[in-house]
Amino acid sequence: MAVATASDSLRSWRFGLLCLLVVVWRPAAAAGSYGGSPAGFKPTAWSLAHATFYGDETASETMGGACGYGNLFQNGYGTDTAALSSTLFDDGYACGQCYQIKCVQSPWCFKGVVFTTVTATNLCPPNWSQDSNAGGWCNPPRAHFDMSKPAFMKIAQWKAGIVPVMHRRVPCVRTGGIRFQFQGNGYWLLVYVMNVGGAGDVASMWVKGSRTGWISMSHNWGASYQAFATLGGQALSFKLTSYTTKETIVALNVAPSNWRVGMTYKANVNFR
Ligand SMILES: *[C@@H]1O[C@H](CO)[C@@H](O)[C@H](O)[C@H]1NC(C)=O
Repeated sequence: MAVATASDSLRSWRFGLLCLLVVVWRPAAAAGSYGGSPAGFKPTAWSLAHATFYGDETASETMGGACGYGNLFQNGYGTDTAALSSTLFDDGYACGQCYQIKCVQSPWCFKGVVFTTVTATNLCPPNWSQDSNAGGWCNPPRAHFDMSKPAFMKIAQWKAGIVPVMHRRVPCVRTGGIRFQFQGNGYWLLVYVMNVGGAGDVASMWVKGSRTGWISMSHNWGASYQAFATLGGQALSFKLTSYTTKETIVALNVAPSNWRVGMTYKANVNFR
């Protein structure tokens, strides 16, 4: 009895030390990998989904996706992209989020490949004429990634067609500031928000002309936001709130007073 008590207390002491080590060690590791900003986005837990691919090796079919990023090469996303099932796509609020994806539990998985990282740039729509377990892979409530073929080919043999994957959200590592591509007309400004770092997503947005206060913008589709206002001839600033972290940043004087639709303007700030 006495022996059992002693070994129990030794065990619980060891467990306590282990917890202490885990607690002390974790923040240091996170700071080293992700810049250590307390407000920055941290990776989520891994969870199970499935992945397929669409298009061919050129990834040309991934251009012009439901997020509105247009040409993914010109706008910095390249071929490391995926279309998300509507469950993950979240009406476009997932646009710009970054995911690590690793192939699991399939002989088609490439051995020794830990994961690949993709940006959400498109919607994989449901197909109700196909069963959710036989072709209707993007039907709710399935979590599914329809990856570009080049991205899929980094984790598995394309002949697999579909593979189980583990996925988690990670901070988006972007070069430079948030980019704003302008569309619309003299009375309506439609802005596509691109190159968003950190959580990668946008919940809400405001615009301010040099002669106006902050004007709330509404979500149009994908990663675009709009304001019905006459803003021509004014330098424009933007304020954005992250969908995931709720952090707000201000990008002052992003566009000069002679801004035009069709142009892309770069801020010098970004989320982390
Ligand atoms: C949906 O599935 C049906 C049956 O396989 C197929 O014929 C059709 O092309 C699919 N629709 C889309 C939009 O992919």
